[in-house]
Amino acid sequence: MTTRDPERRLAPVIRLAPAKVNLTLAVLGTRDDGYHSLHSVMVPIDLADRVSVSVAPPRSRDTLHVTGFDPGPADDNLVLRAIAAAREAARPAWGRRTPPPPLSARLDKRIPVAAGLAGGSSDAAAAADAALEAWDVGLDPDARHALFARLGSDVPFFLVGGPALVEGRGERVTPLGWVRDGDPAHDRPGLLLVTPAVAISTPAAFRAWDDGARVAGGAARLASAHLADELRTGLRVQDLITRASVLAAANDLAPAAAVVEPALVPFKRALLRLLGRPVGVSGSGPSHWALYPSHGEAASAAEALAAAVATGELPSPGGRPPLVAATRILATTDTQRTP
Ligand code: C5P
Repeated sequence: MTTRDPERRLAPVIRLAPAKVNLTLAVLGTRDDGYHSLHSVMVPIDLADRVSVSVAPPRSRDTLHVTGFDPGPADDNLVLRAIAAAREAARPAWGRRTPPPPLSARLDKRIPVAAGLAGGSSDAAAAADAALEAWDVGLDPDARHALFARLGSDVPFFLVGGPALVEGRGERVTPLGWVRDGDPAHDRPGLLLVTPAVAISTPAAFRAWDDGARVAGGAARLASAHLADELRTGLRVQDLITRASVLAAANDLAPAAAVVEPALVPFKRALLRLLGRPVGVSGSGPSHWALYPSHGEAASAAEALAAAVATGELPSPGGRPPLVAATRILATTDTQRTP
């Protein structure tokens, strides 16, 4: 059991919850539990939600106030489920008679919802982490992993804080390296993110994959294994950029996403024409990405795309302009969890 400092608990605990992008996503097959086994290289980017929790008066209940993008009813939000699951995990440290107190949570949503960026999963990871700190409870790594895995397939990835190989249903997470040389603080690839205003449900995309919306040949699996091997020993930013066309093709859920939302087909075609470089899909879509050697180059491309949205050269599926954002891929050393 740890000693709890009442003064500390009065201050809100704040966490950034970064989005993830799948640089590769191979679907290896269907599991007995109905989930799919995956092989994916995921990276966190610096587009992030912000989660904060503060201890609420005793005998109240956990509450959530959301600003920014609308993630749907607060009662269904993963932040509240994460706090409840973290409370169960924290109970032994507090003793059975005094459960960890209620929390008031705030969520500022800057990551689009149902966009293939795991925003909700990242919020859950950040909320569980913040709740444990607010209650002054440290879990051992296995208990922490079990808590995160209970919250959803994409949640354990956020334990790493940098690029990782994700396998199984999502619960097997292996940290990967990043740039091999250069100043790590200044050597971050830029990633242009383009998210059309259509929500794609992950189960619907997996169902479309089950129903045959897939490419034969296992190219995504090979590309994914190769990238993971290279990142294990470290890859230079320029080497990553030269692999972009292979990576952009290495998403087994992209055909399924296009079946669920056919407007993605002309959208991607327009993106390819306007950007003149490989364009990949993150997760089950609809977010698209393109890699750049630096954040500055991604920002110039974002400006050009914003102009193309204004002239209608880039379509706006869903009836609203897509979100266009220049981001950076984060390394483990970047992801201090407190902003
Ligand atoms: O684990 P999570 O609740 O985030 O998964 C959402 C849905 O995505 C699951 O209900 C399942 O339909 C699908 N899924 C899957 N295989 C995975 C991860 C998710 O089939 N590895």
